Amino acid sequence: MYTQSLDQAPVGTDTNNAIDIHQDAAKQAAFDAVIDADGKIEAQDWMPAAYRKTLVRQISQHAHSEVVGMLPEGNWISRAPSLKRKAILLAKVQDEAGHGLYLYSAAETLGTGRDELLDALHSGRAKYSSIFNYPTLSWADVGVIGWLVDGAAIMNQVPLCRCSYGPYARAMIRVCKEESFHQRQGFDALLAMMQGTEAQRAMVQESVNRWWWPVLMMFGPPDADSPNSAQGMRWGIKRISNDDLRQKFIDATVAQAETLGVTLPDPDLTWNEATGHYDFGTINWQEFQDVLAGKGPCNTERLATRVKAHQDGQWVRDAAAAYARKQAAKQQRQAA
Ligand SMILES: [Fe+2]
Ligand SMILES: [Fe+2]
Repeated sequence: MYTQSLDQAPVGTDTNNAIDIHQDAAKQAAFDAVIDADGKIEAQDWMPAAYRKTLVRQISQHAHSEVVGMLPEGNWISRAPSLKRKAILLAKVQDEAGHGLYLYSAAETLGTGRDELLDALHSGRAKYSSIFNYPTLSWADVGVIGWLVDGAAIMNQVPLCRCSYGPYARAMIRVCKEESFHQRQGFDALLAMMQGTEAQRAMVQESVNRWWWPVLMMFGPPDADSPNSAQGMRWGIKRISNDDLRQKFIDATVAQAETLGVTLPDPDLTWNEATGHYDFGTINWQEFQDVLAGKGPCNTERLATRVKAHQDGQWVRDAAAAYARKQAAKQQRQAA
């Protein structure tokens, strides 16, 4: 995640019933003390309703992003250029499903059921990362997604391993380890292409040209336009600002692009000796807002595919529920 979305409209329900701040001053003080000490809040602990709501929104949007993120790459599994690349891509896409599972589970610990979370996604009320509303037009896109999209995700997600909410932080530790593999496999696939034919190099460059700017948007709006970030920072959910993360990503990626031999499509990208960072051009935030508002190239297709996949999987959920009922009845009989 793909966690661009602290600024999105809230979804889900607030399960922390009618909290009266005055009555709960002691609980609030205990919560604040844990946050101030950089400790962890666990599922059974008291927490402010707004903290819970923010986490449900962020973790579920993150989970949705992992699952919808399987679609652009899944599109290339049957067309991978070799058995080796197919096996790697299958493993990668399966990892993303696993990330979705960890994260839905983490969100459920906050008291919102998975059905409710999925319903918010399928009805279009919940967001997922806008990057997955762009199409995968060539095999190079699979490599570029690994290198840049998973690379940006790592930059976003490593600080989440220190998130104040324990179940989310622990899920992120494992997710980040797997994301590192994703980034490396993408870079490796691109390196092989860059050492190939002229046509392969051109395919990589064309793909980098399309993805570079949307990837920079993955870090979310500029800090000045990100009103919820300060509260997220205060709660120890967000650790590094959108702009700082974006800068870190750019600084780390330029050298990798040089190693690959691709040009990043930004004429303003220059090293600034004074700041010790790369300067870069202006991001088209209108495009970001448009894609967020459902007007990206693949929004409709992605959501329709996800809804169909969920409906097609109904028989699996029914079978699992029937099996669980049968096992429970069996155990009851044995206990009697
Ligand atoms: Fe992932
Ligand atoms: Fe990934």
